[in-house]
Amino acid sequence: MSLWLSSSNVSTTAFTCTSTQTILVAVIISLLLRYAWDQVRKGRNLPPGPVGWPLLANLSVLRRSAHASLAELSQRYGDVTSLYIGRRLVVVLSSYAVIREAFVKQGDVFAGRPQLFIDDLSDEHKGIITTDGRQWKQLRKFALVALRQVGMGKPKMERLIADEVSGLLGMFRDTGGRAFDPRRAVVTSVANVVCRMLFGVRYEHDDADFAALLHDLDATFELARNASVLNFAPLLRFVPGGAARRDYVAIDAGVQRLKAFIDAHVGAHEATYDPGHARDITDLFLAEMKKADADAEVYNVEQLKIFLLNLFVGGTMTTFLTIRCSLRFLSEHKSIQKKVQAELEEVIGSGRLPRFQDRKNLPYTEATIMEVQRFGPVVPLGIVHCNTEHTSLRGYEIPKHAVVFANIWSLHMSKEFWGDPETFRPERFFDGTGSLMRPDNLLPFSIGRRVCPGEALAKMELVLFITSILQHFTLTLEAEEELPRDAARGKAWNKKPIAPAAYYITARVRC
Ligand code: HEM
Repeated sequence: MSLWLSSSNVSTTAFTCTSTQTILVAVIISLLLRYAWDQVRKGRNLPPGPVGWPLLANLSVLRRSAHASLAELSQRYGDVTSLYIGRRLVVVLSSYAVIREAFVKQGDVFAGRPQLFIDDLSDEHKGIITTDGRQWKQLRKFALVALRQVGMGKPKMERLIADEVSGLLGMFRDTGGRAFDPRRAVVTSVANVVCRMLFGVRYEHDDADFAALLHDLDATFELARNASVLNFAPLLRFVPGGAARRDYVAIDAGVQRLKAFIDAHVGAHEATYDPGHARDITDLFLAEMKKADADAEVYNVEQLKIFLLNLFVGGTMTTFLTIRCSLRFLSEHKSIQKKVQAELEEVIGSGRLPRFQDRKNLPYTEATIMEVQRFGPVVPLGIVHCNTEHTSLRGYEIPKHAVVFANIWSLHMSKEFWGDPETFRPERFFDGTGSLMRPDNLLPFSIGRRVCPGEALAKMELVLFITSILQHFTLTLEAEEELPRDAARGKAWNKKPIAPAAYYITARVRC
């Protein structure tokens, strides 16, 4: 027994010694590699930034909110920062001036999209959002024309949105003053606007299948952000039990479900297609496909499906999240809510619903919507770009195919620009004479060749949904613990693995 014990002690000591040596050697090699890499970086004249450990290379910046971590780096290294994340060179642009220099002055060079793991999984190099070059140019042009043809920016679209606004007001009224989670009602209304444009259909608020689809979409959108670990270290998806594996499985399932939804609509449209009568954007695309001189590489059914997926996701999630932010901020800031309501009362009264053109006479309301978008940018890092050729920016070299983030969050939270960025204060948008200003540092839709093509639609939706809700209801934020047992019809809606914090409000009827 004692022999066994002592021999065991010897081997344990030997093991400890060896493992300490191994760790020491690994640390020394890592330090040497890190030093060598730093020298290489300096020699290449890349924008300044942290060096990062070999293999992991700054992956930790993605662990928390990536936009906030990258904003911290830009405070240390400047408006153009570079760092390796995994094996990818990432360039972060953090001021309006430098984003403009890249996306507008060098618009063609920076209009590329890098190939990222999650994008490949969902978009398969098709559609409009994750492609570039000839295909993207044609589809983007088509998207802008098609969106206008179905009414974007026109009274026809306003009528369509007004229908969904009425449905949403009904849902709020049905809560009877009890606390509820507004997610399901809001996302259904916003998704219906997009579904009517794309597929010519709408869904009832109590449609369980549609609710489940939107629930998945919400979760998938949250997980599949550009600044996700999976995009920079995709091999981590093979680590059993790891977070990256869980995310991968959830994203894959969510994407498959969305694709099945789109496939069904495309199939139904193909079966009932009438060349003389375009019902919606799907029909417009089918018509384009059938033209004798159509570019078959760009206009085919597989492209159509991803194109529709892009517009469905891009058009639903962003507007939904912005309205969600509005309800949260306004129910929290009662005095601001009251000011908006007073302006609505004075300009519109209670006899009719607000119209889009009313916004010209509603400066405080407009300022409030701008403040919502500043304070809660729903795509804080925009959609990632890449430079399609080697270029220079602010005197630094940017090698071809760098992953380029425009940190919208940095602009919106700049202390130098706003003074008190962490305060929700619509008054900041008025100059000394009381006129409404639109500062450059407010950039929720990005700029340049890739600027959001749905901006006009989104602005109309935000004005109509937010003003109509405040015209009819006074919103109050409910603390979680004060909720009655059956408070949320959306309780099941909350049971998702990763989601922005849920909140509950009450909507007290005003008119
Ligand atoms: C509040 C609502 C919205 C916000 C904040 C928003 C924001 C953005 C941003 C920041 C981008 C990235 C631009 C870039 O790459 O530099 C973008 C792109 C895009 N958005 Fe929006 N968006 C909104 C609503 C919409 C709507 C309603 C639609 C369609 C109906 C839409 C469709 C798209 C598409 C297709 C792209 C990709 C454009 C391209 O790659 O060329 N968005 N959006």
